[in-house]
Parts: sequence; C-alpha cells; structure tokens
Amino acid sequence: MSDGLENVVAAHTVLSEVDGAAGRLVIRGFELEVLAGRLGVAAAAELMFSGFFDGLPRGPALAEALGKARAAVFTEIGGLDAGLLALSPIEAVRALMARLEDGDDLATALRWLVAPAVFTPAVIRARAGRKPVAPDPHLPHAADILRMLHGRPAGAAEAAALDAYLVTVCDHGLNASTFAARVVASTRAGLGSAVLAGLSALKGPLHGGAPGPVIAMLDEIGEAARARPWLEEALARGDRLMGFGHRIYRVRDPRADALKRAITRLDAASGRLAFAEAVEQAALAILRERKPARSLQTNVEFYTALLLEALDFPPDSFTCVFAMGRVIGWLAHAQEQIAGGRLIRPQSVYVGPTPQRAA
Ligand code: ACO
Repeated sequence: MSDGLENVVAAHTVLSEVDGAAGRLVIRGFELEVLAGRLGVAAAAELMFSGFFDGLPRGPALAEALGKARAAVFTEIGGLDAGLLALSPIEAVRALMARLEDGDDLATALRWLVAPAVFTPAVIRARAGRKPVAPDPHLPHAADILRMLHGRPAGAAEAAALDAYLVTVCDHGLNASTFAARVVASTRAGLGSAVLAGLSALKGPLHGGAPGPVIAMLDEIGEAARARPWLEEALARGDRLMGFGHRIYRVRDPRADALKRAITRLDAASGRLAFAEAVEQAALAILRERKPARSLQTNVEFYTALLLEALDFPPDSFTCVFAMGRVIGWLAHAQEQIAGGRLIRPQSVYVGPTPQRAA
C-alpha cells in the first residue's frame, strides 16, 4: 500500500500530464506556456471537452453558449438568505450549486461549468450588502466574471490576467479534487455530483484552500526584513508554509511562473510583487535549510494569491475562483471516466480487532 496513494496510477487520461521532475505541465498536447496568456476560457473548454461531448459548439459558438448558460444559471440564484451568507464563500457557492439540476449531457456540463463563475461574484457582493449583477451573455467569460464582481466593465489587462489564471489551473493530472470527481463520475451519479465532489476536495487548505492563507502570511510578515524571523517561527511551531511544496513537483511548479507573468501586467500588483518575491526567496532558503531531504518549491498557490488580490477578489473567496477554472478539468475527467472507465472501487486492509467467538 502507498501512503496517500503516492505514485499509484489510477487512470489513463488524454487530458493532462504533470512531469514533477522536469516541472512541466502538458494540457491535451500543449505545453502550459503555449496556452496560458493566449487562450480564453471558452477556447480552453473547447480543447478539454473536444471528443467528450456530442454536439460541442466550436469557437465563438461555444463562447455564446457559455454566455447563455451564465444567464440561465443566474436565474437560479433566488434569495441569498442570511443562513447562506453566514457560510464561508466556498460553502455558500457549493450550497447554490447543489440546487442545480444534475445530468450527463452537454447542457448540464455547460451549466455546471459556469456555475462557480456566476455564483461567486453574487455571493461576494451579497456578503458586502450589495446586489448581484446579472451576467452579460455577450461578453467573454473572464471579462463577465469581473464585471459581475465589480459592477463595471473590466479593463483588458484585468480580463486577460483572469483568463491566464483560469486556463493555467483548468487541469492538473489526477490531483485530489479531480480524483474525487472521477470516483463520483464512475458511479454514474451525474456530472453535477462529480463537480460537487471536486469542489469539496478543493476546499481543503492542503489543496485549493492555500492562497487565502498566503495573503494572511504576507500581511502578517508586513515587510521584507521581517520575512526570515516570521517564517522561522512558523516552521518552529510546526506550521506549513502556504504556497510551498507539492506532491508531484520536485522543482518549481510551472504554473507559478505562468501566473507571475500575468501579474507583471497588472498595475494593482506592482507594489506587492517585489515584497512577495522577497518573502518567496526567504521561504525557499529556509525550507532548504530545515527540510533538506525534501525539495520544497513554490507552488501555484503563492502567485495565485497575488493575482487574485490584484483583481480585488477577497482572500476568503480565492478557492471559489480556483473552482471557476478547475471545473473545466473536473467535467472533462468525469466524461472520460464515464466513457472508458469502470466503477472505482479499491480494496482496504482490515487492521481492526478480531471478532470474539461466541462461547
Ligand atoms: N511547509 C513546510 N514543510 C512542508 C511543506 C510546507 N509547505 N510542505 C511539505 N512539508 C514537509 C512536511 O512537513 C514533511 O516533512 P517531514 O518529512 O519532516 O515530516 C515533508 O515536507 C513531506 O510532506 P508531505 O505532507 O508528506 O508531502 P505531500 O506530498 O503530502 O504534501 C502538500 C504536499 C500537501 C501540498 C504540502 O507540500 C503542503 O502542505 N503545502 C502547503 C499547502 C499548500 O501550499 N497547498 C497547495 C498545494 S498546490 C495545489 O493543491 C493546487
């Protein structure tokens, strides 16, 4: 048995490959560097869904279908009551998504693809006492998300940065949330159920819940000179440094650099970037000293935090934004699992007490 299923192969996939030794991510035959910053969300969804959904619209027709799906899902928001808004943003978004109809066709996939993108801005605004902004189905997906969040048209650089982020995180091998989605899909429970399983796994701080705490860490450190003592104290307490380490990568996560490139084009991030880089360098040096046996490098979450902060998403909603991108991967993996896979049902080894024989 392998602890945490490390190195266990649990699926064959045409969707993505993570090479942890080389620091390389391939998505459907393309290096990440070729896709991030050049493709929008609709084009990434087309690439990932191609061959998995009958009648998949192509090019501008898919962008239009996503716009229509956003408008349809927005009508499902209903009342954002106090009970719902008392939940964390990811839990509120999950509760709204759980009310959507499940199914296994393309229309279901498109509704569930846009659901985090529509519900997250509505929840963020409602938590701040503001009304949700309805989608504009004619806008590109990322630009419309920012418009629904801020209530004004997005700048081109902001929309491009969000596109770069969502495409960068759209798939990543058999990570914990994608595996959870595939397990549920293998039972034929429906695409929506698979997405909810993925979302629930993503929420954890060891997976998609890390970027919010990265901001908390940067805020607590405050200035570059305080980085080393702060980080040393955190490690001495037994804390993990958020935004560092990865199960697969032993070198730098290639997504960190893809996001850093996107951030450098955002004015709002310029003040923070130099400080964050200083904290990153201090953390890498300390991790090298304290954990020499394990190569712990910067992961995707560190620069995710800076990028989403510059786009004015509140830190406690960062995981919801991650879900807006990764949902593309969950849906494609769910279809791949349904098309070619059997029910996922591993074995366990019983190590509990032996039953007493009746006298
Ligand atoms: N800070 C300090 N020490 C760390 C860190 C870290 N960020 N990550 C791993 N380690 C240490 C562990 O304490 C352990 O040390 P030990 O052998 O002395 O006990 C050793 O490295 C191995 O740790 P594991 O938990 O076995 O490694 P695993 O492959 O399971 O962990 C994980 C991967 C969960 C991402 C881990 O690196 C971590 O907790 N990082 C911080 C949270 C984070 O950034 N998560 C986002 C990951 S990216 C993503 O999911 C999208």
